[in-house]
Amino acid sequence: MNNLKVAVIGAGQVGGTCAQRIVEKKLADVILVDIAEGLAKGKALDLGQAASIEGYNFKIEGGTDYSLIKGSGVVIVTAGLARKPGMTREDLLTKNANIVKGIIESVREYCPDSIIIMVTNPLDIMTYLAYKASGFNSRNVFGMAGVLDTARFKFFIAERLNVLPSEVEAMVLGGHGDSMVPLRGHTKVNGRPVTELLPKDELEGIIQRTRDGGAEIVSLLKTGSAYYAPSSAVCDMLDSVLKDKKELLPASVYLDGEYGLKDIYCGVPAKLGKDGIEEIVELKLSEEELQALHKSAAQVKEGVELLRKNNLI
Ligand code: APR
Repeated sequence: MNNLKVAVIGAGQVGGTCAQRIVEKKLADVILVDIAEGLAKGKALDLGQAASIEGYNFKIEGGTDYSLIKGSGVVIVTAGLARKPGMTREDLLTKNANIVKGIIESVREYCPDSIIIMVTNPLDIMTYLAYKASGFNSRNVFGMAGVLDTARFKFFIAERLNVLPSEVEAMVLGGHGDSMVPLRGHTKVNGRPVTELLPKDELEGIIQRTRDGGAEIVSLLKTGSAYYAPSSAVCDMLDSVLKDKKELLPASVYLDGEYGLKDIYCGVPAKLGKDGIEEIVELKLSEEELQALHKSAAQVKEGVELLRKNNLI
């Protein structure tokens, strides 16, 4: 894997911020590609001009031509339509599926040995589509959702208990959306179970706010969706891959029997390293959590079926 060059497809809010974080964290050279004339080139130029001030020494190139991504070790796909107020994730499905299919064709052509990190929503369905359309090993195609959902969950708990988000240990599994599965039993604040620190109804309120985390930001921003935390979450996963850290992170991965689920992408804990998904870790879940995970996966399956019906897979 060429870990010195990372392609970011889509130079919008999430893609542009990803590029910024990648160079500021000194992770790799960045290639930005966007269909909108001038956007990727402009952002690349702007980021390049910040180099001497920020002290990074990486190349940032941008354009509309997919041949620019040739030789990238990792391709991050953020291109697509962002959710607008009142729009469900599923509304985005067919439009984004067509965009993703086209992009994956170029990835196959120019970076056949790369690792693909999907960000475009509806996430788990788009990741399944990218896996099928690429023909890549499933270990090399995964999606970012759980890291973001977990970070949101930690933030809300920390805010309520007046601690730092880094003092909260948590893991959110399942599909990215209304059916995400926060693991109550694995949630601790400085080692103490959150269930002992918060009354049940308050914890449920925080879980609901986490589920609605993306929508809350959409309704505030009005003209777009979240990008600071999503780009942080992508870079956390990228960091583990590029530095072969094998960090255990929730990721949307292809399940082939793990957690009793087959032929589907869903968020579960996985070790991320230079070979992509190096291990899927099967945590001991409560009966209720396992049921919620299956329900979540069933929703992803419905989306995949819709793609099949529309001949997109
Ligand atoms: N190739 C390259 N870029 C494309 C293509 C394509 N085929 N189609 C659309 N784009 C670009 C758009 O031109 C736009 O600049 O994707 C970019 C998306 O950027 P934004 O609209 O700013 O959306 P953003 O907030 O970045 O969200 C992108 O990430 O979190 C998810 O739900 C979100 O699916 C959405 C994605």
